[in-house]
Amino acid sequence: MIWYPYAQMKTLEPPIKIASAKGVHLYTEDGRDLIDSVSSWWSVIHGYNNSVINDAIKEQLDKFAHVMLGGLTHDAVQKLSEKLASWLPGDLNYCFFSDSGSVAVEVALKKALQFNTNRGSERSVILALEHAYHGDTFKAMEVGDDEDYHFAFGSSNEKKRGVIHIPTEISALEKAFETYGDKLSCFIVEPLLQGAGGMRMYDVSFLERARQLCDENDVLLIFDEVATGFGRTGNRFVADLVLPDILVLGKALTGGYIGHAVTVANKRVWDGFLSDDPTHALMHGPTFMGNALACSAALRSIELFEKGNYLERIRRIEEITRRELAGFTSEKIEEIRIMGGCVCIEVKDEKYLEGFRRYAFEHGVFSRPFLKYMYAMVPYVIEEPELVKILDVMKSWFND
Ligand SMILES: Cc1ncc(COP(=O)(O)O)c(C=O)c1O
Repeated sequence: MIWYPYAQMKTLEPPIKIASAKGVHLYTEDGRDLIDSVSSWWSVIHGYNNSVINDAIKEQLDKFAHVMLGGLTHDAVQKLSEKLASWLPGDLNYCFFSDSGSVAVEVALKKALQFNTNRGSERSVILALEHAYHGDTFKAMEVGDDEDYHFAFGSSNEKKRGVIHIPTEISALEKAFETYGDKLSCFIVEPLLQGAGGMRMYDVSFLERARQLCDENDVLLIFDEVATGFGRTGNRFVADLVLPDILVLGKALTGGYIGHAVTVANKRVWDGFLSDDPTHALMHGPTFMGNALACSAALRSIELFEKGNYLERIRRIEEITRRELAGFTSEKIEEIRIMGGCVCIEVKDEKYLEGFRRYAFEHGVFSRPFLKYMYAMVPYVIEEPELVKILDVMKSWFND
């Protein structure tokens, strides 16, 4: 029996069975062709069954699939970490790999907390955002602020003693630093776009001010770019605009091929762990960290991103989305938000989206709205007619 995610198994609607996939198309076992508007949880940026990434994995597979990084290393992980170090902004050069975004967030938080204990500092409070989502493991849930996902684990006060949540407003940010500045170890954010918390978008000026305040108060700034990284906001990384001390990447890192993630630290954080004292080491080591197939896929995925003029593609996706939704409105809609390769139609009440998933399916689109949010985060290889079709289906739901 498969236990499916985020689902009450007693009432689960049977999932759609996929037989094959190519580009932005999912082909079902019973012969339907669905355009994917979700990119398999926002990860499959180059589309499905991409021959270039397929070949990279096959080449690596003929050598070996995996060796552990405890005492061993290999070409694919070395090349990927070198590539990330040169490709990422600033001195974000120190790559710790893990098998999922949630674990990579755990590693980022561990780093920030231990960075302080290593230097004999008592800072143990974490600053985070309201409506944040950073994954489903326990510490990631604590810095998250989304009771819609994590309601089963007690009241927020009980479980989040060491975490302060603030809205994305500069006044709240300044007040938090005024109150807790000397107790904070780090400030963790999904920069510019908060995904699972409702596709909420905010301005870069908030991050610029956060950077200043973190510097003034000796607090580490962590960008969780598991969702926003690799172009989703229209920027390659939000870290290109404002430089964090620790950057977390996942999802699209491997082009959505294999679960893998990386927590990248700057030199200051790295130096905070260099010591003759063995207890200052980072004690973490997922079995599959630096998996060779994942690293090969990631390397080729980055190459595709670089050579394929992706930022231009994403700009075009945004332009088409804005054009198609210009002036569109319905009394059921609260707000329409668009940023880069993400569009969200927030409705006034969840009930207005009941049945939309089925409706989209019947109109040849795979969609997975949640709560009050109907959204699309398409693979960047999408062609204009396919994107227009997705947007038409979203609009027609309100008109039909
Ligand atoms: C911003 C952010 N951080 C972390 C995660 C967790 O990643 P994973 O599902 O790979 O554990 C997600 C997943 O949606 C995410 O959106």
